Amino acid sequence: MSATKLRVAVLYGGFSAEREVSLVSGKACLEALSTLGHEAVAIDMTRDLAALMAALTPRPDVVLNALHGRWGEDGCVQGLLNVLGIPYTHSGLLASSLAMHKPTAKRLFEAAGLRCPGGEVLHRSVVEAGDPMPRPYVVKPIEEGSSVGVVIVQAGDNVPPIQTGAWPYGERVLVEPYIPGRELTVSVMGDRALAVTELRPKRGFYNYEAKYTGGKTEHLVPAPVPEPIYAQAMEEALAAHRTLGCRGVSRADFRYDDRPEQGEAGGLYLLEVNTQPGMTPLSLVPEQAAYLGISFPELVGWMLEQAACD
Ligand SMILES: Nc1ncnc2c1ncn2[C@@H]1O[C@H](COP(=O)(O)OP(=O)(O)O)[C@@H](O)[C@H]1O
Ligand SMILES: [Mg+2]
Repeated sequence: MSATKLRVAVLYGGFSAEREVSLVSGKACLEALSTLGHEAVAIDMTRDLAALMAALTPRPDVVLNALHGRWGEDGCVQGLLNVLGIPYTHSGLLASSLAMHKPTAKRLFEAAGLRCPGGEVLHRSVVEAGDPMPRPYVVKPIEEGSSVGVVIVQAGDNVPPIQTGAWPYGERVLVEPYIPGRELTVSVMGDRALAVTELRPKRGFYNYEAKYTGGKTEHLVPAPVPEPIYAQAMEEALAAHRTLGCRGVSRADFRYDDRPEQGEAGGLYLLEVNTQPGMTPLSLVPEQAAYLGISFPELVGWMLEQAACD
């Protein structure tokens, strides 16, 4: 139970490709708020700003941002809340938009000495015309999340990764060498990296379906990786959070190439930082928090304490 009862507006749903996940995150947060004894209003975010203003009247003490994907995770909603002067959870405007724009985030990570997979931004027509780099490689939208639009092109595939007209994610795409091996993720709560989880999809790669359908991905926490890799992932997640200037909770995704030729501590590649990581009951951040004895409501309570405007 928290000492002061707050009026909390939960922004969820929204109109990005990740709407459905956000609805589940938002509902879980609403339950936690009721456990904590706060007064909560749920606001399904639309483009109707007059309706939003009405829903924000009377003015809440805090906005709990449970949105994922564009608009809610890329700085737009953060900017709106900065203008209104209502403190909100998670990262501010700049960190959010930097993290969401993968090529920009990668440049900053590399400048900070964090290794990323490399690759380049190309016009979709280049990728349509033929392999832009030796296979295997990965094609991804510049600004989406939850593996939406991510295509892995393997040696034997004969379907072009982008078919004319069938790519709704913009004119330019990010193309990266495919990093073989394992998938790791690390949550950060302020100045503390929580734990390393290894994600083992039961089949295929870690896609949208595997992420949000219970049982298709195994979560191993603590990740069964060599101690130096574990420590390096924890350190790099915190460094990535700081590099972008994140606030509250974030989560860094890594690939870990564990082939012997990579050497002892050489195989870790930072893919991205998520500034609005999932808060569903199946999600990774709540799971790592639980591993450290922090309950879901405690996690939400901590997020509210960190809420701020830029
Ligand atoms: N360069 C890469 N090598 C291997 N797998 C990748 C690579 N980039 C992305 N992936 C796979 O695609 C998933 C989603 O990519 P990511 O960059 O984390 O974007 P997002 O989660 O925002 O969609 C990753 O978790 C990973 O499984
Ligand atoms: Mg990711």
